[in-house]
Amino acid sequence: MVDIIEKKRDGERLSKEEISFFIDGYTAGTIPDYQASALLMAIYFNGMSSEEQGNLTLAMVESGDQIDLSDISGVKVDKHSTGGVGDTTTLILVPLVAACGVPVAKMSGRGLGHTGGTLDKLEAIEGFHIELTQEQFVKQVNDLKLAVIGQSGNLTPADKKLYSLRDVTATVNSIPLIASSIMSKKIAAGADAIVLDVKTGDGAFMKTVEDAEALAHAMVSIGRQVGRNTMAVISDMSQPLGFAIGNALEVKEAIETLQGRGPEDLTELCLVLGSKMVVAGGKAESIDEARLLLEKVIEDGSALKLFGELIDAQGGNSEIIHDTSLLPFATYEINVPALTTGFVSKMEADEIGVAAMVLGAGRETKDDDIDLAVGIMLKKKIGDAVREGETIAVIHSNREDVSKSMKLIQQHIHISKEAQKKPELILRMIT
Ligand code: URA
Ligand code: CA
Repeated sequence: MVDIIEKKRDGERLSKEEISFFIDGYTAGTIPDYQASALLMAIYFNGMSSEEQGNLTLAMVESGDQIDLSDISGVKVDKHSTGGVGDTTTLILVPLVAACGVPVAKMSGRGLGHTGGTLDKLEAIEGFHIELTQEQFVKQVNDLKLAVIGQSGNLTPADKKLYSLRDVTATVNSIPLIASSIMSKKIAAGADAIVLDVKTGDGAFMKTVEDAEALAHAMVSIGRQVGRNTMAVISDMSQPLGFAIGNALEVKEAIETLQGRGPEDLTELCLVLGSKMVVAGGKAESIDEARLLLEKVIEDGSALKLFGELIDAQGGNSEIIHDTSLLPFATYEINVPALTTGFVSKMEADEIGVAAMVLGAGRETKDDDIDLAVGIMLKKKIGDAVREGETIAVIHSNREDVSKSMKLIQQHIHISKEAQKKPELILRMIT
């Protein structure tokens, strides 16, 4: 291990065997944290070649269980987002893409953050359960084209252990380490093709387009090396996506989007990502053809209907697709007034996320309970005109005192005197 650390310290490349030696030993506990920390820091400073990143990813995949989706017919396409605020795309894309005939076997997480993960959001639907056996999961995808489950099995234990170590050794923010971490989980989950949504801007991990692009290229290169068709879109997270931030509120927003009356940005991002998924799944020849197909399944109601079938199959009350008032709702709805007149110039997405989290919409630590009903509905986005006293957002809360959340929203939605352009939603495509 000392030789391996030395090599990376001096900027040399590690062989496949050396990388496997490290990952196997670290997972087994025979390589201590202090040596792993030293290697991570050397990687942080000296980087890794594409080939090293591919080998690191595979070693992490092989450190644990891998999901076998070979009993599902068709090209299995997965999607991953690097995370943003109010990102409801998975809830929409699963039925949307499945309605075009692409099988979607989705394994999702809860996660920490401003709101819960996809699983938490789905559990806002009364009765919905995410525990399916591997057989039930495969059967449901073969029958209906879609299923969503929680993580089962011991996937990528090496990544879990390394991620915790990176967190306390200031080595999270390394593109080779982020790329291999994300891709190892997607590959272990069994997809044939992977569409990545790499976010950039205030509310994202990657604050600049250049960094987001570098991460996207790294992940696409890893995917291709291990034989998974991988592509990426770089999308804007300089403001929250859509209007809803909160679990039940986002389910409602997802249903409205499937009904064809969702927010413009959220709808567009789903069409862009969905088109790539449909092409990767072999159900359209071109992006344009895929987009028409997606628009059709929204228009004719078949995507929404399939969402209802997913809910039925997993024990939930599918009435909610026609009556969203059946979702949990908060006791108080409190308007947040604008403090001045002008145009919305900036929305610090991460801080607005915090404003939702302090209401109870998200978790700070793994064991925190979340309140599925609470959150924020934005009434304005960047570029919109606003008058002093006009409502810029509505807080949905189960507590009467929302002063902390209100202050965060008012502080972090900036209003300027000059007119503002709307930000570009799709910044780059990496195919
Ligand atoms: N998300 C991950 O899964 N891994 C990283 O390293 C960073 C973000
Ligand atoms: Ca949203």
